Amino acid sequence: MAKYTQEFIDAALELSDNEHSKLSERERELFGLSSSRVRALLNNLCTKQDINYLEIGVYRGATLLSALYGNPSVKAVGIDHFKYDEREAKRWAVEGTIWENVKSQLEANIVRYKDPNMQVSTDNITIIADDFKQVAWDKQAKFDVCFFDVTPVTKADYEFFFSTVLPTIKTSGIVIFSNYSNETTSKALNEVIEAYTGPYSIDWKRQRISSGLSDATKYYSGLLILGISKKIKTLG
Ligand SMILES: C[S@@+](CC[C@H](N)C(=O)[O-])C[C@H]1O[C@@H](n2cnc3c(N)ncnc32)[C@H](O)[C@@H]1O
Repeated sequence: MAKYTQEFIDAALELSDNEHSKLSERERELFGLSSSRVRALLNNLCTKQDINYLEIGVYRGATLLSALYGNPSVKAVGIDHFKYDEREAKRWAVEGTIWENVKSQLEANIVRYKDPNMQVSTDNITIIADDFKQVAWDKQAKFDVCFFDVTPVTKADYEFFFSTVLPTIKTSGIVIFSNYSNETTSKALNEVIEAYTGPYSIDWKRQRISSGLSDATKYYSGLLILGISKKIKTLG
């Protein structure tokens, strides 16, 4: 039986549409490229027990820490190559370097939440500082919830996600894609979804479109949320 029902996701979305979650003002105000509603949704989805949460595109950790806040049993893996920061004039770090300030701010944010009163089990966080296409996916723990928050994102990134990352989902789970308010990106993502013929089926979809790609009052760059489960093999 699927762990996440459509009723559960609709209730979680209704709460986050109203910015309701366990998050405090502190998590809502962490500097990041995401809105209160996105953070609330991730927090609400991770309220289930023993969730493995995967985030691709952690940046300074605002959404990662929001997913974990008040949800002590969540185990999280966060991935980022720290080479792209849309808040920098040059955006891409010089060849062979990373945006050290982004990585060190992420580390500092995690250290800040180490205090037991901060309601985040920071020992449950693993950070992989690499391109997600270089990660040894066959060695990763299976996830229940994945937030794919890669920017800039290409059709090839989505193809890689479906061919190589998706097999690390449990028998069922949720994948949330950002940048869905961008027409080119949503078209590319929908084409990849339509062409997908792997061992998982998409059971349901929900979306939240924003006015622009950094809409702090709505779902920032827009979300596509998929409920996914392993196809049942039939005889004959
Ligand atoms: C929109 S930001 C993530 C925002 C973050 N989730 C937050 O709440 O603030 C996108 C991130 O994707 C990362 N990124 C882009 N391409 C990547 C890739 N191929 N592998 C790993 N990270 C990537 C960038 O370095 C950037 O930090």
